[in-house]
Amino acid sequence: MNEILKVINLTVKIGNRIIIQDINLSVNRGEIVAILGPNGGGKTTLIRTCLGFIKPYKGKVLLFGTSPKKAIKTGKVGYLPQKSITPKNFPFSAIDVVLLGLVNKKIPKDEKIKIAKKYISYVGMSGFENYPFSQLSGGQQQRISIARLLVAEPEIIFLDEPATGVDVVAQEGFYEFLRKLKEEKNITIIMVSHDIGVVGTFVDKVAGLNKKLHYYGEPKGFFQKHILEQLYGAEVRLLIHSPECISCEYFYIETPSKKEEN
Ligand SMILES: Nc1ncnc2c1ncn2[C@@H]1O[C@H](COP(=O)(O)OP(=O)(O)O)[C@@H](O)[C@H]1O
Ligand SMILES: [Mg+2]
Repeated sequence: MNEILKVINLTVKIGNRIIIQDINLSVNRGEIVAILGPNGGGKTTLIRTCLGFIKPYKGKVLLFGTSPKKAIKTGKVGYLPQKSITPKNFPFSAIDVVLLGLVNKKIPKDEKIKIAKKYISYVGMSGFENYPFSQLSGGQQQRISIARLLVAEPEIIFLDEPATGVDVVAQEGFYEFLRKLKEEKNITIIMVSHDIGVVGTFVDKVAGLNKKLHYYGEPKGFFQKHILEQLYGAEVRLLIHSPECISCEYFYIETPSKKEEN
């Protein structure tokens, strides 16, 4: 089956408030999709609804042609939630964290350790197996967390702001790594991100979400002033490196919410 995720006329209300409205999405196997939009725009809500964590909702979500709840049980779906700060006394080593991804597999312990080491190497973290997870850098923690997803051999992974808290150099390495994941394992990746500049260069589709889906398609069509203004509001400021570059990736966007964070 080529179409892995299909969302039809999805509306989610929390209490009386509409959080996301009339969302339509179609994601094919092996695609990388970035969900972009301002804080509070409903990105996490959309992902969590696709994973079956938010109910009730209006409309339809089909993951592998079935309900999210059933799809999750097949083990084909991985999810990395929006990152919370790891407490300094978090007692697990890197390999312990990766092994958590295999808790439901009925295979011998030494086999699990072999698999965990293989994926730690795959994410470029060999040598850190016994390092305390809490003492790794943000980027290293993300790689180990991805290894935890990969040991279960998912076909689709949902990553909620995986590069937040990761320094810029590590971020680029991380995006290259996602690309490799797609190319070598044909894994479908749905990712929430804030880095619209970087994202444009390596994703297949962009979903611009601010309650409604203002854009869904190839990155190049996304970088238009009217779409960015619809999405981020009138205060959006585009700093474009070269005048003809409005439709390419060389710009930086500053939103009111981003200013507050800094
Ligand atoms: N459990 C909840 N209860 C009440 N409001 C919520 C809940 N989850 C999300 N919201 C609200 O829904 C909106 C979208 O949130 P979210 O999906 O987290 O946005 P994003 O991930 O784009 O920042 C926000 O205004 C948030 O306050
Ligand atoms: Mg969020």
